[in-house]
Amino acid sequence: MKVAIIGGGGREHVIALKISESNLLNELFILPGNPGTEKLGTNVPIKSDDINGIVKFCTENKIELVIIGPEKPLTMGLAEGLIENDIKVFGPTKAAARIEGEKSFAKNLMMKYNIPTASFKVFHKENYDDALNYLKRVSYPIVIKADGIASGKGVIIPETYEDAKEAVKECFVNSSFGKAGEKIVIEEYMTGQEASVFAITDGNDFVLLPAAQDHKRIFDGDKGKNTGGMGAYAPTPFVNENDYKIISDKIIKPTLEALNENKSKFVGCLYCGLMMTSEGPKVVEFNCRFGDPETQVVLPLISGDFLELLFSASNGNINKNSISIENKTSVCVVLASKGYPDKVEKGIEIFGIDDANKCENISIIHAGTKKLNNKILTDGGRVLNIVGTINSNNLKLCKEITYNALSKINFDGMQYRKDIADKAIN
Ligand code: AMP
Ligand code: GLY
Repeated sequence: MKVAIIGGGGREHVIALKISESNLLNELFILPGNPGTEKLGTNVPIKSDDINGIVKFCTENKIELVIIGPEKPLTMGLAEGLIENDIKVFGPTKAAARIEGEKSFAKNLMMKYNIPTASFKVFHKENYDDALNYLKRVSYPIVIKADGIASGKGVIIPETYEDAKEAVKECFVNSSFGKAGEKIVIEEYMTGQEASVFAITDGNDFVLLPAAQDHKRIFDGDKGKNTGGMGAYAPTPFVNENDYKIISDKIIKPTLEALNENKSKFVGCLYCGLMMTSEGPKVVEFNCRFGDPETQVVLPLISGDFLELLFSASNGNINKNSISIENKTSVCVVLASKGYPDKVEKGIEIFGIDDANKCENISIIHAGTKKLNNKILTDGGRVLNIVGTINSNNLKLCKEITYNALSKINFDGMQYRKDIADKAIN
């Protein structure tokens, strides 16, 4: 099979690594890919939001399956562009991708179908005063979210009415989130451990992958700004057998049915961000794609033919037996550039990748790197992912081997969290 992966981050590198194990794979292209994916297939310099360029390349090269990594091309309608040209796609259409692209759409759908989530209200820019009046009556902390995609920065959690007023002003008056913030969702603050669960689906039936826990804040102890994710581990003990059943029966199944009824059948990876509250699992958010860095720790737990799973899902007839889940543990630590999640300097030389790669049970995954004159340089906020995987449930040991490999790598300004997986270890 001729396969193309769209994207160039850590998630796409790890997907490329996993499907390279498949006997079904003949030729792999990654658009645009990175210095890590270059060893697994052919990198093609087409950006992941160049919809026309991607469709043209895939048609001309008779690609049989396209796996779309990032949310942007999905919300822009890449899937339908490819489907119109008879190319199989793992990833939802623009209509189904609204589950991530428009928070109010996701929340209204959950309310209508009784899917457990935080209680909420939606306000448009025109109802500025109503939003402020509402905020006078709620209890704090409260959660304010920009409706559209705001690069992971669109969630504010004010502790007081004064701060909430400022947050709404940022959205409606100062347009800090652009069009994404012209509508906001104000929702109840939930407490509990967070978890991410992926459902691989053909639109009707699905397989749940093991739950992971992400670490969204930049600093240890969940301090500082929100990021795309600074590290993850899987499986997480905060999701037990009973929780999986609830997530499957009361969350994923009705969500897929609701999307079907809305004439927006969802094919791909439905990412469910959960809060494990005292009342059970509740949805924090849905994403229309694999999570990054959660994918880096979920895929190493899978045996069997992952490519067959994705291809059968894209064909509308998922073969759930193509994979099984092993009794393994995986930890991923993200190395980020100085300044991340704000503005970062790029082009800084990275040392020690080869040494780290020699460590047993370790994969060095490229996220924001580039190659120049045989040197590997930084090329983004999140630069590398150090992933350790072991054949047992010893999370403490898995953390140790991961940080040991990490110690071989350095670059100027490198920052990383030292407490990945500690919540579960402690
Ligand atoms: P999101 O972009 O929706 O995943 O939100 C980013 C982060 O904000 C989440 O990972 C949570 O830590 C936090 N968050 C979002 N919604 C809520 C909520 N209703 N209650 C508590 N924390 C939340
Ligand atoms: N790690 C969070 C996300 O992929 O959205």
